[in-house]
Amino acid sequence: MLEFSGIPRPERLIDENGRRIDGRRPDELRPIKMEVGVLDKSDGSAYIEFGGTKVIAAVFGPREAHPRHLALPDRAILNCRYHMTSFSVEERKPLGMTRREIELSKVIREALETVTFLEEFPRAAIDVYVEVIQADGGTRTAGLTAASLALADAGIPMADLIAATAVGKVDGHLVLDLCDLEDKYGEADMPVAMAPRFNSIVMLQLNGRMAIDEFRRALALAQKGINEIYKLQREVLKRKFSELSPEEV
Ligand code: CDP
Repeated sequence: MLEFSGIPRPERLIDENGRRIDGRRPDELRPIKMEVGVLDKSDGSAYIEFGGTKVIAAVFGPREAHPRHLALPDRAILNCRYHMTSFSVEERKPLGMTRREIELSKVIREALETVTFLEEFPRAAIDVYVEVIQADGGTRTAGLTAASLALADAGIPMADLIAATAVGKVDGHLVLDLCDLEDKYGEADMPVAMAPRFNSIVMLQLNGRMAIDEFRRALALAQKGINEIYKLQREVLKRKFSELSPEEV
């Protein structure tokens, strides 16, 4: 039997009552915690928990781009770094950026670029840091969700927030918001990110196989989860900005 990080595959990932290994229904998100403005030193920040996945995002800028020759005359550069702490995973991750982290930094940056008004800041740079504190599946989607909140917290103009989650296929069932074991031992994993206001998909990846009909149903399931996450994002931002005095806004 295939085994990841010393954790054997549970005999069943869905029980006879249709419940998942953590007791969730197939269309249920994990418990979510969200907070903005959690760091003092950055211009914007956000902390997110999707179950056991814990991610922090920090934004610096817009500031003058360095080195100067990299500056773009018509828009800001968006730099993005997705990184997993060594202690975030079962088998301690090596220090430094892995190929996976370099790829995910690019994926997150490209999704954020679709909603950020970079043209308002020519010759500037905006730095986005996504730090995974604990990984239990769906770190890219949690990271993207947190990064868009941190950009909004920094007051950077955006067409919309980005909300993201993964859907997948586990023991033949379509499930929302996969945890690590479902991700590793399931048949398919599909992270999806959307700008919900425009109903537009800004990131979609698929690992594994699904039939066309399953893909359509999985996308609808992702959209349901994304709408729930989006609602929480807006609430947390409204709460923060309604607490500020007019001079601080
Ligand atoms: O985290 P996400 O689902 O976006 O990306 P993934 O590459 O599909 O990884 C799925 C999960 O595998 C992560 O969330 C971690 O829980 C785990 N993982 C790990 O244990 N060690 C790594 N070096 C990378 C990922």
